[in-house]
Amino acid sequence: MKIRQFKLGPMDNFSYAVWDERSGAAALIDPAWQPGELDLFLKKEKLTLGLILLTHAHPDHVNGVTFFTGGNSGLPVYLNSEDQFMLESRPGGLRDAAEGEKILIGSEEITVMRTAGHTQGSVCYLARGAVFSGDTLFVGECGRVDLPGSSAEALYNSFVRLAALPDGDTLYPGHSYNGDTSTLGVQKEYNLYLKLARQGRREDFLKAVR
Ligand SMILES: [Fe+2]
Repeated sequence: MKIRQFKLGPMDNFSYAVWDERSGAAALIDPAWQPGELDLFLKKEKLTLGLILLTHAHPDHVNGVTFFTGGNSGLPVYLNSEDQFMLESRPGGLRDAAEGEKILIGSEEITVMRTAGHTQGSVCYLARGAVFSGDTLFVGECGRVDLPGSSAEALYNSFVRLAALPDGDTLYPGHSYNGDTSTLGVQKEYNLYLKLARQGRREDFLKAVR
């Protein structure tokens, strides 16, 4: 699977284009802020947008969706059902990004991993060797849990699961905070929150995130 990272907007959000090189089938993850730039990239690379994947429903991650669904109202848009109430307008092709769901992009497979905490319906998208973590896990940081619908306890459970992913997986977060990418292995070593979760130190994790 090919991956291109785009840093867009005033909050250093990351949108991603991911595609299957053989078929040219592509997906956009969290298209926001400058959808025209993403569209231009797809056209330049002669890729066919088949679906949109949303890690959660905060506006800074979804404000480019209507750019793509306007002309194609059936375009599948995946978002966990717990976050769907936050959308200002519901795309016609809205689908539930449910735990364990397998989503095909050409011959490439993406698996949904439910990672509640930052929002109730936050998910990570797992591809071969790659984790798209939205606002759940950043380089050296974790997602905020002081927002409506956030839960530090849920985030801990999500981090325990993330800490079990392979060290070699590349992390693709939802914002450029301390860096643009990393590996799960490096984060398990240096990310305080992932380290605490890996060690099963729930109380210390809860103290650290608050
Ligand atoms: Fe967010």
